[in-house]
Amino acid sequence: MSRILLIVGGGIAAYKAAELIRLARKAGHMVTPVLTAGGAHFVTPMSLAALAESPVYTSLWDLKDEAEMGHIQLSRAADLVLVCPATADLVAKMAAGIADDLATTLLLATDKPVVVVPAMNVRMWQHAATQANIAALRTRGITVIDPDEGPMACGEYGPGRLPEPAAILAQILPDTESGSGAVGATLAPLAPLHQPAASPPPRSGEALKGRHILVTAGPTHEPIDPVRMIANRSSGKQGFAIAAAAAQAGARVTLIAGPVALPTPGGVARIDVETADQMAAAVEAALPADVAILVAAVADWKVVASARKLKKADGAPRLEFAANPDILATLGQHPDRPRLLIGFAAETDNVVANASAKRLAKNADWIVANDVSGDVMGGDHNRVHLITAAGAKECPEATKEEVAQYLIRRIIEDLA
Ligand code: CTP
Repeated sequence: MSRILLIVGGGIAAYKAAELIRLARKAGHMVTPVLTAGGAHFVTPMSLAALAESPVYTSLWDLKDEAEMGHIQLSRAADLVLVCPATADLVAKMAAGIADDLATTLLLATDKPVVVVPAMNVRMWQHAATQANIAALRTRGITVIDPDEGPMACGEYGPGRLPEPAAILAQILPDTESGSGAVGATLAPLAPLHQPAASPPPRSGEALKGRHILVTAGPTHEPIDPVRMIANRSSGKQGFAIAAAAAQAGARVTLIAGPVALPTPGGVARIDVETADQMAAAVEAALPADVAILVAAVADWKVVASARKLKKADGAPRLEFAANPDILATLGQHPDRPRLLIGFAAETDNVVANASAKRLAKNADWIVANDVSGDVMGGDHNRVHLITAAGAKECPEATKEEVAQYLIRRIIEDLA
């Protein structure tokens, strides 16, 4: 028998806390619920009290409780403190040491093992702030159970869902079936709790091992004369995020970058170029590759440049243009064509129709169609459609990192 102090945060997954209490009680454990103000929007103290057969604590300022059982005592009269579901807010407060309600005060005061089971929107989970907070908690010896992956709006797997209560209990109290779990002894280390229903992609590090992935990113600069050039507004952020995600998944990554002010992601081999001609040559030299993802905003035209600086006195220049190589179309017909060839298409209108036409015209496997009617160029967010032979899939607006993760997951599935 273990004594669990269960902190129930606010979130749609709070209803699963009720099931968790029921299962824990059935297995002979004692559960003392603490309900945050947010949690009380989703489940009532009454239902938790009925299932736990215990008073439910909600407020730091309940004088009766402080007299009978102060928060220090409450946090220590347990074998284990379980935060389930833990919201992004609760995780952030724990990381920062904030104690502004009963739950966070208990968490700061406890000397018992703490297990946190986060559940939140996938973007909130993946946000750098949340990930930094989770890492801080783990560094301090708090056990964090990764959320489950589940179907997202894009149709792919995304982490953020609360694992099933039975799985949580099985992990924190492995002896629950027999009812003899000794919490302190069974807490660490926890086995990974990650068994989504249908064939999920491997999580990281290994999935693209042994693959060579070629990425182009950023703008090109096309010189007009020795001091002037034609450029575009591409920041390179999306391509760099994709290169980073591919490297994290274990691929050997060659990133051919136009002129951008971005740091090279870890584990990525970067080749800096300026013009479309240089980018085309660098891509050719980097072959063969298993996958090529051409994200660069390559100038379609180059200027027949003047060897000497154009002078004002010469009058308004009449620039002459010549076609640049189309790198994507060239790869589409290349004897060393990558097995998976992915282009991007920046469109302001008829996004799907234009991008689908581009896919066929350039013999690409997929086109990621960017709707650039807003502030996508240079911004941190992207709104994309993924166009494949099977049709077009619209993804909700996401950060460029999320788009990169999504794309890499799809690539892993495709190569598998
Ligand atoms: N691309 C390329 N080489 C070029 C032009 C484009 O490799 N010279 C690639 C881009 O990296 C992108 C895709 O082709 O993956 C689509 O580029 P985009 O400029 O949107 O398409 P275009 O063919 O130039 O069509 P348009 O400008 O008419 O929309």
